Amino acid sequence: MRNTLVNPGVGELTYEIRNIVTVAEKLQVHGLQINWENIGDPVAKGETIPQWMKEIVTKALMLDETYGYCHTRGVLETRRFISEQTNDIGGAQINPDDIIFFNGLGDAIAKVYGNLKRETRILIPSPTYTTHSTGETAHANAGPVTYRLQPENNWYPDLEDVKNHVKYNPSICGITIVNPDNPTGMVLPEHMLREIVTIAGEYGLFLIADEIYNNIIYNGQRTVPLAAVIGDVPAVAMRGISKEFPWPGARCGWLEFYNTGKDQRFREYVNSILNSKMNEVCSTTLPQKTLPLIFTHPEYRNYLGERVARYEKMSNIAYDILGKVPGLLVNRTNGAFYMAVAFKDGLLTNRQSLPIPGREIRELVENITGGGGVPPDKRFVYYMLAHTGICTVPLSSFSTPLQGFRITLLEKDESEFRKVLRTLAQKITEYLDS
Ligand SMILES: Cc1ncc(COP(=O)(O)O)c(C=O)c1O
Repeated sequence: MRNTLVNPGVGELTYEIRNIVTVAEKLQVHGLQINWENIGDPVAKGETIPQWMKEIVTKALMLDETYGYCHTRGVLETRRFISEQTNDIGGAQINPDDIIFFNGLGDAIAKVYGNLKRETRILIPSPTYTTHSTGETAHANAGPVTYRLQPENNWYPDLEDVKNHVKYNPSICGITIVNPDNPTGMVLPEHMLREIVTIAGEYGLFLIADEIYNNIIYNGQRTVPLAAVIGDVPAVAMRGISKEFPWPGARCGWLEFYNTGKDQRFREYVNSILNSKMNEVCSTTLPQKTLPLIFTHPEYRNYLGERVARYEKMSNIAYDILGKVPGLLVNRTNGAFYMAVAFKDGLLTNRQSLPIPGREIRELVENITGGGGVPPDKRFVYYMLAHTGICTVPLSSFSTPLQGFRITLLEKDESEFRKVLRTLAQKITEYLDS
């Protein structure tokens, strides 16, 4: 090549959640039994899809129109259904043209950041779900601009930190929130959401609210969708079916734009997102066709309620077991199905280890973790994986200087989950003492 083809630093945009799978699969070949606590796919963790849902999908497949392109923004009846649902909340009022469907919310997230001018920055949480940090930093070709979620305070955002960033960094034009949050399981209280809206309004920013877990909240917690409190601040809400139905393989998510009529610059930006979608014609028709039928099915609420009750149970098991381990900062999760656990400052080093049986596995792990610059929590995660078969994700891969790990709460078998958590608790202590 006579020129470089990618931006400098692009190789750093690795996705640790998937990287560790590659290694775990290698370990599997060497005979290690893996407990997958790393990936947020309920189906991969054994969720069974109810018969009534399969019947709705099957019926949609029998219609010829399901095989055609749909409107660039998405199937009109589905957008009408969603806009009515949002309008019923009683806050932001939208019409079907304020909605655009994408092939998964990941695709939508990439478009939201990718259509911004390079110099325009979005303030994202730290830790943050990697697709947001990757999308934002790739568009800016620079490191992330983040506000702190506080492990010492239920992972709630540090609102002073948000304000200071916005006040002193004029390139920030928007703030991202993920509510409920991945990777922390934090649910943002309504008053904090309102404060963030106020900050955005005061400084002429727009908000990005990833609400893919908005109907997965437990432990008696409450929040409200951004639509309820947005007032006249421009905003994008992000929603999808990957976690809720759950149907991640459908690759179906959508954006809802609020207050596009109230700001010319925001309207231009929304149009640029629509234009980039036009280049792809549209998103997959099938899941969109089924969406209103699934959401309004008489079984839907009970079905989702049962799953949410299970996540609540697993959340509390994880909290009760890990909360007793010295050296950890553990918060009860109240939404989504992840728990982020941080080690107290300075506890992890690059010398700790656990015994790894078998020369090949040991060498593999030593190679991955031995080089300079490997974060200590990455070392921890790989030694834990090779010693116990428990596959977690290093917290530092979620754009945070904090050291820790993320587990999922998706295990269906309660006694298996307790066993995994007890092993993890015991081995953390051994690792820290090693
Ligand atoms: C917070 C958050 N947003 C978006 C996504 C992407 O979802 P999709 O499967 O629709 O691309 C995920 C997936 O894990 C997520 O956790």
